Amino acid sequence: MEKALSAYKPVLLINAAAYTNVDKAESEPALAFAVNRDGPDNLAGACAKANLPFIHISTDYVFDGQKKSPYIETDQISPLGVYGKSKEQGEKMVRSRTEKHIILRTSWLYGMHGNNFVKTMLRLGREKMAIRVVSDQYGCPTSAADLAEAVLTIADLIISAPGINSKINWGTYHYCGQGITTWHEFAEAVFDIAGRHDAMKVEKIEPIKTVDYPTPAKRPFFSALDCSLIEKSFGIKTKPWQESLKVAIDRIFNSNIV
Ligand SMILES: NC(=O)c1ccc[n+]([C@@H]2O[C@H](COP(=O)([O-])OP(=O)(O)OC[C@H]3O[C@@H](n4cnc5c(N)ncnc54)[C@H](OP(=O)(O)O)[C@@H]3O)[C@@H](O)[C@H]2O)c1
Repeated sequence: MEKALSAYKPVLLINAAAYTNVDKAESEPALAFAVNRDGPDNLAGACAKANLPFIHISTDYVFDGQKKSPYIETDQISPLGVYGKSKEQGEKMVRSRTEKHIILRTSWLYGMHGNNFVKTMLRLGREKMAIRVVSDQYGCPTSAADLAEAVLTIADLIISAPGINSKINWGTYHYCGQGITTWHEFAEAVFDIAGRHDAMKVEKIEPIKTVDYPTPAKRPFFSALDCSLIEKSFGIKTKPWQESLKVAIDRIFNSNIV
């Protein structure tokens, strides 16, 4: 990383890389910790040496889901699985390595690229008549494009205010889509929007309980994030999750990615 930083001479570093397979992490803890703890540790260390700001993406899964209202940045973290623990450790490393950091926790991320819940639903919706989706886990879907915009807004503020008197409020922030939903309701919204583009085969979206869909990793039942601090500090407003979902699905269909 030190070599790369001196070769490319960036003005700041953004880390969006992570080991993100929540279930597989349970059987591959060493790899999950290497990527999610040691990776950011190395990156933040290299940034500290080069005096570069570091923006790092983290997750709602650092929380255990026992709270009844959206989590704020200073709430107790208590991850349930290996993935969450490895991300928590990554956050800790970043904080200890450099003051000039922004840790941005987000949740239920989807977009046109890569594998994500929305793209999985679009595939299943074409293949199956009926699907079962968990309806007792609550959270906030977040469009990767919206998150990218938030990251770039912060990056611009950092870059345009490098003077000695400028004040960037370094630290940990939450950013996610506005509104709380369940995976089941999220899936229904996906099919509602996708159905306007293409005939979906799926007719029945059955709500099921987490206990009826056992997975290797435990997930928080409630992981909504309160995003008031990022608005107060950087003027970044969240967007209603349904509106962003429509934009993303329209983009997916218009670019023939599905
Ligand atoms: N997905 C969610 O619902 C969610 C929720 C909350 C927070 N987050 C956080 O958001 C960030 C982005 O997640 P995502 O969902 O976009 O994940 P993703 O689609 O799995 O992308 C992760 C990226 O990390 C890269 N990567 C993995 N291991 C690497 C390594 N050792 N060296 C370099 N690159 C490596 C992967 O590269 P390859 O493509 O080459 O494998 C991939 O491009 C992560 O910090 C994640 O923890 C995600």
